[in-house]
Amino acid sequence: MAGVRWPPEESELLPPRQLTTADLISDDDRSVAADSWSIKSEYGSTVDDEQRHVDAAEVLAGGNFPATAAFDYSSDKDELDASEVEASMLGFQSYWDASYAADLANFHEHGHAGEIWFGVEVMNTVATWTKNLCANMPQGWNAADDSNFKTESCEASKDLSSWRVLDIGTGNGLLLQELAKKGFSDLMGTDYSEGAIDLARNLAIRDGFPHINFLVDDVLETKLDKKFNVVMDKGTLDAIGLHPDGPVKRTIYWESVSDLVVPGGLLVITSCNNTKDELLQEVEKFNKRRHTMQDLDQGAGSEPSVFHYLDHVRTYPTIMFGGVAGSRVCTVAFLRN
Ligand SMILES: C[S@@+](CC[C@H](N)C(=O)[O-])C[C@H]1O[C@@H](n2cnc3c(N)ncnc32)[C@H](O)[C@@H]1O
Repeated sequence: MAGVRWPPEESELLPPRQLTTADLISDDDRSVAADSWSIKSEYGSTVDDEQRHVDAAEVLAGGNFPATAAFDYSSDKDELDASEVEASMLGFQSYWDASYAADLANFHEHGHAGEIWFGVEVMNTVATWTKNLCANMPQGWNAADDSNFKTESCEASKDLSSWRVLDIGTGNGLLLQELAKKGFSDLMGTDYSEGAIDLARNLAIRDGFPHINFLVDDVLETKLDKKFNVVMDKGTLDAIGLHPDGPVKRTIYWESVSDLVVPGGLLVITSCNNTKDELLQEVEKFNKRRHTMQDLDQGAGSEPSVFHYLDHVRTYPTIMFGGVAGSRVCTVAFLRN
């Protein structure tokens, strides 16, 4: 959960479950795992959404992996060694490939859309909030100077169809469908799992959104050479961070994403594994790293920070745990300079 970390032994919400490689191998086991950990959408749910929300947040937040594990990035494609598996299988492509293969079969057989991470309510909140954020951005917005943000004298840029939107780690692509309903029309979803992209394409066509583009792409070694006005991430940085080599991958993530957002564009991250403040700190570290690299390259007088905090969702319900208030999920928008 964002804001408060729950040690597994203190959590009464989800009995701790030790994961094994067998979870990855057997489809039956895998779907049991998915049932236990993830949030099924209302399109295909047989289990209480709130419990799924709790379970998914717990799993994504609970990724603890061997501190000594040192993986090459290329090893992401490999199967896990049983000794390395704890709650970190969501950091591996093999997990997602198996997950979406089952979701795709379920779609073809029953028409189910699969899972909505963090639940339908969070997805709707993210879509509505992002729409309002974009609609309130002044025309001719200068990311380096946020003093004109949300001022009444500036005319807001209401035409959402001109915003080029990318959803990284799109899964079944339902967030993009929600954004399409809000008025965005230049939409693209990427995911490194082919099954996810297949599922997302099928759903978009079935649900009347054939104009949404989908592409198999690993955000950490992206093939995309164009930039976007808005980059959305719901649960993808969380998943990336659950790989045993998560810290390194997160560094690569920021480098990669900074190339995908136009100057003056937005990065909107929804996470249950990091608080807003933790994301801010991570961005600050990335900015500093970039400054240092630029200073080395060009001498003093480097460019402003790459990303800076713009706003966050304030409406997620908060709960108390151990005397501390927090919400399970946070959504934060960063501006690209
Ligand atoms: C927690 S799920 C979230 C899916 C979707 N964004 C949603 O909110 O329903 C994480 C997604 O990130 C994808 N993913 C993880 N690492 C990725 C990477 N390096 N490049 C692209 N997609 C990735 C997974 O395949 C999975 O679809």
